[in-house]
Amino acid sequence: MYTYFFRLIFRRMDPERAHRLAFRWIRRVAGVPVLRTFVAAVLAPRIEELRTEAFGLRLHSPFGLAAGFDKNAVGVDGMAMLGFDHVEIGTVTGEPQPGNPGKRLFRLTPDRALINRMGFNNEGSLAVAARLASRTPVFRTVVGVNIGKTKAVPEDEAVADYVKSAERLAPYADYLVVNVSSPNTPGLRDLQAADRLRPLLGAVREAADRSAPGRRVPLLVKIAPDLADEDIDAVADLAVDLGLDGIIATNTTIARAELSLASDPALVAETGGLSGAPLKARSLEVLRRLYARVGDRITLIGVGGIEDAEDAWQRILAGATLVQGYSALIYEGPFWSRAVHKGLAARLRTSPYSTLADAVGADVRKTA
Ligand SMILES: Cc1cc2nc3c(=O)[nH]c(=O)nc-3n(C[C@H](O)[C@H](O)[C@H](O)COP(=O)(O)O)c2cc1C
Repeated sequence: MYTYFFRLIFRRMDPERAHRLAFRWIRRVAGVPVLRTFVAAVLAPRIEELRTEAFGLRLHSPFGLAAGFDKNAVGVDGMAMLGFDHVEIGTVTGEPQPGNPGKRLFRLTPDRALINRMGFNNEGSLAVAARLASRTPVFRTVVGVNIGKTKAVPEDEAVADYVKSAERLAPYADYLVVNVSSPNTPGLRDLQAADRLRPLLGAVREAADRSAPGRRVPLLVKIAPDLADEDIDAVADLAVDLGLDGIIATNTTIARAELSLASDPALVAETGGLSGAPLKARSLEVLRRLYARVGDRITLIGVGGIEDAEDAWQRILAGATLVQGYSALIYEGPFWSRAVHKGLAARLRTSPYSTLADAVGADVRKTA
């Protein structure tokens, strides 16, 4: 049904416009109590075996919404209603900014992929913090806050920009993510180098502790799939050394190698980050490498090309405690999360593991 609807309506529409329209409808439905209760009962099944714990937080399931869908925290309950048991808002930057001009989101439908060069369009840390402060949650969902650098801020002032966001947003974050991996802000990914990442993460940790006294807000870093293997190991070692709570692997890729010949070459040539199915293999590989390095010392979140329950299950076996998705929601529609929940529970029941926690990293441990 959704596939039909997608072909008929969304596919003909500009992708960013389709996103705005769909998101507006989701929020409208979530604003009507009887409707949202009904929709959540259908789309967000609670399955006992999927209950998960990650960095001290309790979640209904390991499945959540990746950053970038709800940049300004305007629709957390709407996305929870669709079955996302954690919603990562952002990326939020220190200052508000419009993002890149012109057309900046492209659908590569034959590859079930997207290319985006949104460039962190968002209302800025002050406005988003105010929104989160005044929010009365309807559904119990974990809210992660993903922060990044304001484009206009010079690179040597990047730390101060992240600190500003962390100070404003940490009090409302169930967990905080330092995003150093989006390909659409010049110089951002250079912050992944250990000698630049260490002072950045240290400063954000201190800012979070200052602004949310009495509560240790879990701090994570989100990395790119395009890092060389030695750099992945360096981030992993640094994360352990700093006592970081987690690593999110991965953001979008600048590579195009995994695309088929079926997608329009003009779209393939667009600059930006590629997400969706073609990212699957590399994101899984990065996750495995991280788990082999850090084991259970740090919580890993797997994201990139997850399309169904089997993909989510493979991430768990590769070391992910939580999994996230974004692009597949565009192609699969509102029943996607329900299918992932049901499929994951079925997969767990037929596996040799009695709990999800037992399954985390099992494949990597076997081959070690
Ligand atoms: C349109 C779009 C915007 C995104 N914006 C952000 C962002 O602001 N911050 C971020 O950390 N990741 C962002 N991402 C990356 C996703 O969070 C995710 O890491 C990536 O898309 C891979 O997952 P997927 O293959 O399930 O989409 C964005 C992705 C898309 C498609």
